Amino acid sequence: MTQRPSILVARAIFPEVIERLREHFDVETNHTDAPFTPQQLAERLQGKVAVLTTGSERIGAELLAACPQLKVVANIAVGYNNFDVPAMTAAGVLATNTPDVLTETTADFGFALLMATARRVTESEHFLRAGLWSKWALHMFAGAEVHGSTLGILGMGRIGQGIARRGAHGFGMQVIYHNRSRLDAASEAACQARYVSKAELLKQADHLVLVLPYSAESHHAIGAAELAQMKPTATLINIARGGIVDDAALAVALRERRIAAAGLDVFEGEPQVHPDLLTVPNVVLTPHIASATITTRKAMANLAADNVIAFLTQGQPLTPLNPEVLPKVLNA
Ligand code: DGY
Repeated sequence: MTQRPSILVARAIFPEVIERLREHFDVETNHTDAPFTPQQLAERLQGKVAVLTTGSERIGAELLAACPQLKVVANIAVGYNNFDVPAMTAAGVLATNTPDVLTETTADFGFALLMATARRVTESEHFLRAGLWSKWALHMFAGAEVHGSTLGILGMGRIGQGIARRGAHGFGMQVIYHNRSRLDAASEAACQARYVSKAELLKQADHLVLVLPYSAESHHAIGAAELAQMKPTATLINIARGGIVDDAALAVALRERRIAAAGLDVFEGEPQVHPDLLTVPNVVLTPHIASATITTRKAMANLAADNVIAFLTQGQPLTPLNPEVLPKVLNA
């Protein structure tokens, strides 16, 4: 009897997805869900041909050199800044992610965070829970208008376009965006979005939503200089990645009311959060949950599993990030 390939699932996922993987492979799991240190990960990967990862697991040249049997790393996330893709390609290791299945859910959350931030939902709830509400008042927690305002989007991929559609069609917002490349006319028309320079975006947006991938290029794309160009009444929403915003500079801008408020789902160095952000009232903070519905998280885990199954059983991954390695891995 030929031995079944061994794979690792680096974090706790849904039991039914593990069962699907067990139909094909010997599967080692991490029931505790404690993220592995790089050394633990390298140890667990000995003899494994595949691993399902999340953003907590870094896959770089050193780890790849220590795990020569590894053939495929399937991220349970659309973002893959935890992968050194060129190093994976050089090592002949396939990388996959989970696009599409989380687009609408994440766009929903972007809008939820925008609404909560603009309308001061959590700040007013904390006030109420603290027993501070003694009377109705005209000015109490008066926030910023959402409908009819100008929605700015930095990074206009699938999720950005989902947020644009919600803003334009649901809330009658004027949508402006900036992106590395401009959308084609049909895509712009579908979400009624107008392309502007980054400087115009910062200047005109009443609500600025960040949905761009993290890279060396986008590191601190929003820092003190950019915050200074925004309206003092503006809100800033980050559902992209920590590190795109300079969190220390943002905390200063919020404290000094240089912008009105921010909603953040992602942080530099998460799960640590810059201590100054924890003490300013005009920020809504959530723990990286933009794609977190049961349906979508199951779809993400299933797509990662499908990538590993389809690649290892038929040589055809569904959503490869570096398809150029396929001939090399398949002929190895
Ligand atoms: C993603 O899919 O990239 C989400 O941020 C979860 O990591």
